[in-house]
Amino acid sequence: MADTAAMMETSIDPIALRRAFGTFVTGVTVITTVDEDGTPRGMTANSFTSVSLNPPLLLVCVAKSASSYQAFTNSDCFAVNILHEGQVDVSATFASKSPDKFQSVNHDRIHTGAPVLTDSLTWFDCSVFNRMDAGDHAILIGEVRAFGTSPTAPLGFCRGRYASVKDPLPAGWIASHGMIIGYLIEATDHLLLRSDGKGGWVLPTAKRRKADSQLVVDEGGALRLLPDNTFLYSVFDVADSDPGYLIYRARLADEGMPADLPAGLKFFHVDEIPYEQVPTHELRSMLRRYVRERREMRFGIYMDSDDGGRVAMIDGEAHAWMQSSHE
Ligand SMILES: Cc1cc2nc3c(=O)[nH]c(=O)nc-3n(C[C@H](O)[C@H](O)[C@H](O)COP(=O)(O)O)c2cc1C
Repeated sequence: MADTAAMMETSIDPIALRRAFGTFVTGVTVITTVDEDGTPRGMTANSFTSVSLNPPLLLVCVAKSASSYQAFTNSDCFAVNILHEGQVDVSATFASKSPDKFQSVNHDRIHTGAPVLTDSLTWFDCSVFNRMDAGDHAILIGEVRAFGTSPTAPLGFCRGRYASVKDPLPAGWIASHGMIIGYLIEATDHLLLRSDGKGGWVLPTAKRRKADSQLVVDEGGALRLLPDNTFLYSVFDVADSDPGYLIYRARLADEGMPADLPAGLKFFHVDEIPYEQVPTHELRSMLRRYVRERREMRFGIYMDSDDGGRVAMIDGEAHAWMQSSHE
């Protein structure tokens, strides 16, 4: 039974309360926004909670004592970046009072203009849905406008310490489901395809990434990817074929197209993808969606389903995936 002494006190001891709150296991996020000058601001926060799917809402609590408090309460957008297990240093930087926290991380503006960390486990780009005063904090409710996620292990936090979490999506899960893992790899407006040996073009496949940077492709040879810049893009089954497909988007670490590609791999300009030589309707359809979405760098995640599938997340909505006749 919990220690009831503290609960019977008329005034709650804030230190004991903080310790009690700290027994709730959380992940760690960096919440970001821009101040009135457009300067990125951010802080570590574990008060993140998912709130609603329809409309898509989440919340975070920002202390009034934080120096970025004004920036968060004045801005009409913010982003929540959930950290992966390799980002304890990022958490420490954003929990500090350093004036240049963004020096050590890369960030992008994706949809609302709030800075999204290039490297994270998952990010949510939000417009402010509501703000509430709550004691020494403000509750910020965000409406998710776009989000992205990657299959790395989360960073955990409990009792004031970082904790490692057994990844609920371990590598073995994919193998045990016999899924084929394909990669959409782009370099200077060209997309990497692999010859299927029968006159067709498919995506390069690989068992798994090593430390997120070396991709050992199934046909032999390795490609260097930008670390932590790999995002889940599509999960689908191909009719009359056993294994499902799991497709990631990734970027090459080196600028330009490498001259020495593993045998069977070739870059095609995104406007010259040989769709008619792509053997399955599902892959063709996915490539067309990718080429369309990359124009605005706003990507959905496609999940196959019996009623035609869903593209989740763009503009915070789950759109039914309407296939036009040419796809
Ligand atoms: C794991 C962790 C979680 C935190 N969660 C929150 C939080 O949810 N809300 C908050 O206001 N501060 C939180 N903090 C504290 C802030 O990150 C810290 O006060 C930071 O210095 C604020 O930055 P700023 O003053 O530059 O705005 C957390 C710190 C850590 C290490």
